[in-house]
Amino acid sequence: MADTTAQNPDATTPPASGPGTEPGSGPDLAGVRVAVIGAGNMGGPVVRTLLAAGVRAEDLRIANSSTASSERAAEELGATAARTREAAVAAADVVVLGVKPYQVLDLLAEIREELPSDALVISLAAGITLAQLQQALPAQSAVLRAMPNTPISVGEGAVGLMRGAAVTDAQHALVHALFSRAGVVVDITEDQVHAFIAAAGSLAGFVFAIIEAMTEEAVRQGLKRDLADSLVQQTIRGAATMLLESGTHPALAKAGVCSPGGTTAEGYAAFERAGVRAGLAATMSAAAERSRELSQS
Ligand SMILES: NC(=O)c1ccc[n+]([C@@H]2O[C@H](COP(=O)([O-])OP(=O)(O)OC[C@H]3O[C@@H](n4cnc5c(N)ncnc54)[C@H](OP(=O)(O)O)[C@@H]3O)[C@@H](O)[C@H]2O)c1
Repeated sequence: MADTTAQNPDATTPPASGPGTEPGSGPDLAGVRVAVIGAGNMGGPVVRTLLAAGVRAEDLRIANSSTASSERAAEELGATAARTREAAVAAADVVVLGVKPYQVLDLLAEIREELPSDALVISLAAGITLAQLQQALPAQSAVLRAMPNTPISVGEGAVGLMRGAAVTDAQHALVHALFSRAGVVVDITEDQVHAFIAAAGSLAGFVFAIIEAMTEEAVRQGLKRDLADSLVQQTIRGAATMLLESGTHPALAKAGVCSPGGTTAEGYAAFERAGVRAGLAATMSAAAERSRELSQS
């Protein structure tokens, strides 16, 4: 189970949650009504994790940009399509905003009249601050930001939660329960979200790119594509699981694979000469910097 306190010294009363958390071990989610406005690349995995946590399909309403799109997403994800955004929101306990960041504030202006006064609004948007969300809603609205990554769809992702001032302890516990099947769920501050995006939100995309590049080279070296796929993916999963389970520092685990004069040592020397380490640092740094820019615009 994830130790949220160890990972985030600034955590605010974090109920532990992780892949092993059973639905029902926190607040009972049966009967909690959730509206997801924008079930796309990120909203879709959020829908899956909420259903896995125990939200009932009939209580999880999806509103996309058109009725046809809402129905398509609801069928694919096993939830319910709402006729309109307003209908989705009207009786909701929790409203998840999964639209693009530039759409979030306009969307809030559209739905604020329909929003029940005690509803909790969860925004997934990068760069839209709690203060901006709060300003777009009536005073004392409960607003929280959640920064997930797409591996939450298989219960192996990460979610950073940023709690607004009006969120009650019960609502905070509810959000942890809602994301309890996502993977690692941690409370973070808005200052930490830029680093969080580099290390989790955007990192999933970088890892996909690394896997793709490694697979292409495995094919170039002569492996069939399906074998290359499974070897690269299994080795990356196995390496991560080894570190997670043993707590070994990655540098020590790497030294354990590099025999003197051997293949890994030779390959690793090429890794450093090619500037892969610096390239990875620059990649993550660019994502964090872009997040800082978006928060200021
Ligand atoms: N992608 C990630 O890895 C990731 C990670 C962390 C956070 N986020 C955040 O997640 C949010 C969504 O990003 P995304 O990558 O999932 O985008 P996306 O795949 O384009 O999904 C956007 C969704 O919003 C819907 N939508 C568009 N206009 C709408 C409207 N007027 N009313 C209702 N629904 C509308 C779209 O419906 P249609 O399909 O019908 O157009 C689509 O389902 C962003 O704020 C982003 O910052 C994304």
